[in-house]
Amino acid sequence: MAEIRIRSTNERITGEEQVKAFLDKQEVLYEHWDPGKLPASLQERFDLSDEEKAQILQTFDSEIRDLAARRGYRTWDIVVLSEATPNIEELLKKFEQVHTHTEDEVRAITAGNGIFIIKGTDDVGYFDVELTAGDVISVPEHKPHFFTLMEDRKIVAVRLFIETEGWIAHPFDDPAFIKA
Ligand SMILES: [Fe+2]
Repeated sequence: MAEIRIRSTNERITGEEQVKAFLDKQEVLYEHWDPGKLPASLQERFDLSDEEKAQILQTFDSEIRDLAARRGYRTWDIVVLSEATPNIEELLKKFEQVHTHTEDEVRAITAGNGIFIIKGTDDVGYFDVELTAGDVISVPEHKPHFFTLMEDRKIVAVRLFIETEGWIAHPFDDPAFIKA
């Protein structure tokens, strides 16, 4: 289940209802899928073949299609990151830059962990959303953010998109952002 850390105060928000209420206020969509739907042979696996990725998409097909119908996504795929990913260090360095997109960024975590760092309203500032298997998040278009891995350094997630152009990251140079 997702947890929030507000960077300026180190305050943590836990519990599904509290997390959801906080994210609602920040206009960040938060939902939950049942990660237990995945066959045991695909749980906590990070070296996936194309067939296995297709099997994960098939397992969550009704959840994906429901989300897509409500929010207009037209394509989806699986992204896997782990120590086995070539150039993982460079990739993470590239990821860890605040940026925006012209469409929302949707991730449904099916294994492992990850963090979205998001610029909240002025009274909140930057906050972390720590995600685990089953968490589904959508960072709204034009909202400054970045994504990175947690200590386990591995994740499998479903990504959903409206248009391919929406994937492009536009750097957001923010003196208010402090890496911590
Ligand atoms: Fe992004």
